[in-house]
Amino acid sequence: MQRYAQITGWGMYVPERRLTNQDLEKMVDTSDEWITSRTGIKERRIVAPGEACSDLSIKAMDQALAVAGLAPTDVELVILGTSTPDYLMPGAVFLVQDHLGVRCPAFEIRAGCCGFMYGLVAATQFLAAGACRNAVVIGTEIISTYLDWTDRNTCVLFGDGSGAVVLEATDTPSGILSYEMGADGSGLDWLVIPAFGSRYGVDPKAFETGDVYIHMQGKKVFRFAVESMVEVTRRVVYKAGLTMDDIDLIIPHQANARIIEYAAKMLRVPMEKVYVNIDRYGNTSAASIPMALVEAVQEGRVKDGDKVILNGFGAGLTWATTLVQWGKVEAQMLEAGFWQTVLGQARQVNARARDLVSNVSMLIAAARSS
Ligand code: COA
Repeated sequence: MQRYAQITGWGMYVPERRLTNQDLEKMVDTSDEWITSRTGIKERRIVAPGEACSDLSIKAMDQALAVAGLAPTDVELVILGTSTPDYLMPGAVFLVQDHLGVRCPAFEIRAGCCGFMYGLVAATQFLAAGACRNAVVIGTEIISTYLDWTDRNTCVLFGDGSGAVVLEATDTPSGILSYEMGADGSGLDWLVIPAFGSRYGVDPKAFETGDVYIHMQGKKVFRFAVESMVEVTRRVVYKAGLTMDDIDLIIPHQANARIIEYAAKMLRVPMEKVYVNIDRYGNTSAASIPMALVEAVQEGRVKDGDKVILNGFGAGLTWATTLVQWGKVEAQMLEAGFWQTVLGQARQVNARARDLVSNVSMLIAAARSS
């Protein structure tokens, strides 16, 4: 029997400090009008000094565990999607795992804004294979540390935050029904923080060149994002044997409201079926999809049985989209169970009939030869 990974818990955390467009007007040559019309962003959250990736992750995870009713010591796997961990080595995920008080496997995924989505797909495979009964998947980003606050092209776009989900194994169709993910490293320098990996080394020159900060080729990323969101969403819906009309809500990566609106138009999906909260948080990279999912659930936009598209794209370049069936689906389960029973009985009748024919043939053959 196929095993599924149901999302049973969700949580998010954003830092206290709000940075509004009006605040940014005092820092760089920009305006609330420009930022709002080009991106849809009104404000974003910024960490306090000393607040790191694991701090945000733990707060989001604790909330998700409380919703799931799962004890921290019962967690069997932790995956953290982030490009901004506490330290270069080892991963922030080990501080998160240590907080749980259980020695479970834990690893990090660096796939730009798709870090959480890659983690969601990976965890689902672990659960489907029976390798564990539950998993916590977190997306956290503290991009503000790596922004050049004198560069208006980038500093207005991003914010800090964290979102987490708990997955639990089930036999009921739930969680990811279909997905597609991929990468194209030829676009790596479209969105990159060049220092201080092993190529660059620990070179103080990075501060003079600005290579400690995020570099982005906005127009190229914009085009890639729209194309990816449209194409990959179509393929994932098709893979599940559904049409766009069957989709109740699309929760896309919150990179730019214009990217989302263009893509929705091309997909012929009304904006009422698309969740957007970029106005309050900016682009929180790997945290944006779980954060948007949490708010969509809290606002009652996602109900049991709903089919929800989670759509990610970002640095790498990477893309990852899933079609998720939300909650436990009793009616469908009963229906599926009923038809499985009918089908099973039909097969059994068929097998018995074959046995009967074969037995009668053997009896006739035996009677003839005697
Ligand atoms: N305030 C005011 N003016 C700004 C500005 C700001 N914050 N940022 C850029 N500008 C200026 C530019 O300097 C340029 O001026 P110029 O014509 O005198 O050179 C002008 O606005 C137009 O810039 P342009 O780059 O054409 O704007 P755009 O419409 O492409 O929007 C982005 C820029 C960054 C908002 C857009 O390209 C984008 O969202 N790209 C995708 C980014 C993204 O999603 N990244 C993360 C992916 S996970």
